[in-house]
Amino acid sequence: MDVHVTIDGRSYTAQEGQTILDLLRANDMALPTLCFHPALKPSGSCRLCAVEVAGRSTGKQITMLACILKAREGMVIRTQGPLVETARRQAFDRLLKMAPLSTEIRELAKKYQIDLGPPPDGCIRCRLCVRVCKEIVGPGALKMVKKERDALQVMIDKEGGKFKLASPVLRIVIWMVISF
Ligand code: SF4
Ligand code: FES
Repeated sequence: MDVHVTIDGRSYTAQEGQTILDLLRANDMALPTLCFHPALKPSGSCRLCAVEVAGRSTGKQITMLACILKAREGMVIRTQGPLVETARRQAFDRLLKMAPLSTEIRELAKKYQIDLGPPPDGCIRCRLCVRVCKEIVGPGALKMVKKERDALQVMIDKEGGKFKLASPVLRIVIWMVISF
């Protein structure tokens, strides 16, 4: 039986029981997914495919997983907006905690305009290089700069407060100074 679903303000026809993810894909609409595979039952484990929908019992706007959510007559879905973005960001953060070195997670997040901050760079933020540059070498060109999401990074003060990332070569030179 056919049911009618509104997605982002447009009306679509779905088969009763068809998942929202399937309906979106059948209509060329993108949603991030990592754990979905058409040959397997949906597991809902990556939580990336969150969409906004009115809760069945409360009527309150909530997010649900599109790979599990089945189309019902009159359903109104949003694939964007603050609720979806928060759920998506939390899902990406959670995945990145489990797999901090994954480039796939970072690339997918970027595709959906979610900044997961700088990837691990081996720097333990001890500030020794910053202090050597100031106290021993002299120019004080290195600074520990606060980046997105409170991450800290060693940067070079290039021109009047414009910072660029301190290169690995510079870090090695400073390490050599530190070691002597
Ligand atoms: S780059 Fe600087 S702050 Fe980072 S570990 Fe090396 S000396 Fe410490
Ligand atoms: S695709 Fe992973 S939870 Fe839906």
